[in-house]
Amino acid sequence: MIKKFTFDAIIVGGGGAGLRTSMQLATEGLNVAVISKVFPTRSHTVAAQGGIAAALANISEDKWVWHMYDTIKGSDYLGDQDAIEFMCKNAAEAIYELEHMGMPFDRNDDGRIYQRPFGGMTKNFGETSISRTCSVADRTGHAMLHTLYQKNIELNTQFFIEWVCLDLIRDEYGVVLGVIAIEMQTGDLAIFHAKNTIFATGGAGRIFQASTNAYINTGDGLGMAARAGISLEDMEFWQFHPTGILNVGVLITEGVRGEGGYLVNALGERFMEKYAPKAKDLASRDVVSRAIATEVKEGRGIGPNKDGVFLELSHLGEKLIDERLPGIRETAIKFANVDPVKNSIPVVPTVHYMMGGIPTNMNGQVRDTSNGQVIEGFYAVGECACVSVHGANRLGSNSLLDLIVFGRAAGINVIENSKNKILKTLPDNAGESTIKRLESLEDKRNGEDPRSVGNEIREVMQDHCGVFRFPALLEEGVEMIKELRSKVDNLFISDTSSVFNTARIEALEVINLIEVAEATIISASNRKESRGSHSRSDYPKRNDEEWLKHSIYHPLSKIVTYRPVNLKPLTVESFQLKERVY
Ligand code: FUM
Repeated sequence: MIKKFTFDAIIVGGGGAGLRTSMQLATEGLNVAVISKVFPTRSHTVAAQGGIAAALANISEDKWVWHMYDTIKGSDYLGDQDAIEFMCKNAAEAIYELEHMGMPFDRNDDGRIYQRPFGGMTKNFGETSISRTCSVADRTGHAMLHTLYQKNIELNTQFFIEWVCLDLIRDEYGVVLGVIAIEMQTGDLAIFHAKNTIFATGGAGRIFQASTNAYINTGDGLGMAARAGISLEDMEFWQFHPTGILNVGVLITEGVRGEGGYLVNALGERFMEKYAPKAKDLASRDVVSRAIATEVKEGRGIGPNKDGVFLELSHLGEKLIDERLPGIRETAIKFANVDPVKNSIPVVPTVHYMMGGIPTNMNGQVRDTSNGQVIEGFYAVGECACVSVHGANRLGSNSLLDLIVFGRAAGINVIENSKNKILKTLPDNAGESTIKRLESLEDKRNGEDPRSVGNEIREVMQDHCGVFRFPALLEEGVEMIKELRSKVDNLFISDTSSVFNTARIEALEVINLIEVAEATIISASNRKESRGSHSRSDYPKRNDEEWLKHSIYHPLSKIVTYRPVNLKPLTVESFQLKERVY
């Protein structure tokens, strides 16, 4: 007999977005559970380094509307202007709330929160670079996650730790009634039944070979949504962070360049001046990543394979590095064998962030793209969601902000929505298809090895859907991912034991990876223009006439349809489309 738990709300994922949402719900006394694949403070938010953006104006004059403009421009005009206004306008309040909860932000001499410049952030609509990113040295995500976790403990949020959610449960009308999950410690299955289910499952950077993402980022929320027939939005847009450690992938924060670090090629040239004459090393990430890839392609790369560039920061001095960038120093010593106080760090663009995701409105309610309504009982927040505030390219330090602002907004909406809402009964066959899926995985006597198939997926995505995208490679990639799906359908695990069976979990993760990889490569091959992080050799220009629209990938038919970008903000004038130069 399968176990059943009932809650007012369940949140899948214990990172920043999940914990900010649960905090809102628990504050109002809702019976809320967070289900997390890992101990919450090991969620990937913990790895966020450089900071969280808000126009606090603690270093120089700043306005939320400038932040809004930068975010729209950064998104290459694909971000929805109403959602971007909402995020930027609510940013300062979100920071002060974290501060009052005890988040140990760095300080200026006057006691106010310290802020550093980040890429694409400007004063007065593009005039000069601005210090807008609030930080806790280079461990901002770590500080934020621990602050939120402690608050949830105080509020008695219930945690189901090392439980892996497998599938959504929907009734015959499509209403979401919870999830079915497996406990890693025992192998037991359970149904979590709730009035509202909120996905905060994070990103899926592990569909690529070279990734700054934790191994847990396997797109589990997107996989579950896709299997339930829910569409995914803007999946072609993946951010390559310019500075992952060469051949390792570990992140070196943009905060290094914010503090005055810069990139050089094998000739010792500060090449960013050529690509972004004004912003230079603090251009947006897509621009900097393409610049590095171009330097490498044209033979000016560093290292034995000439496949990276150097990040120079020794001129900042040991005192500043130890105070503002201590994690970077430690990481560079451990993973690149260089002490940045003395030597430059070899870096290369590395997959970092998924701009697309499960389509939602500003309240986190998942949109049913077939009828423009919302899917009752279902929310998504954070990286797994596409609101859309990041469009075709996210600005650094807008991600932590997105988690907090939209986590809170979703929480408020869930509270409203839960009032007078009666918990619908589960369908008789709840969880049955998942149980069959698990049984068929375990009954197999031979088949494909999950780890090898996962590696093949990563290899195809890396080679066929990178910083620059080429038509023949994209088409070939679509076919290869299709073939890999047949392999995923034939996965085999030799170990079928119950207790901490990580082989089973890995196989289940590969089943999610293929959904995300397929959505990505099909959406990318369909979009015939270059915009933000999606840069095609055969269509090198942005084409607003035909392509100023969001992609909607339908997982069951594998068809891509489109919806218009919302160019109308909530209260201010619309920002007009312009050529994007830095
Ligand atoms: O470079 C960084 O510190 C990353 C920040 C972000 O992705 O927002």
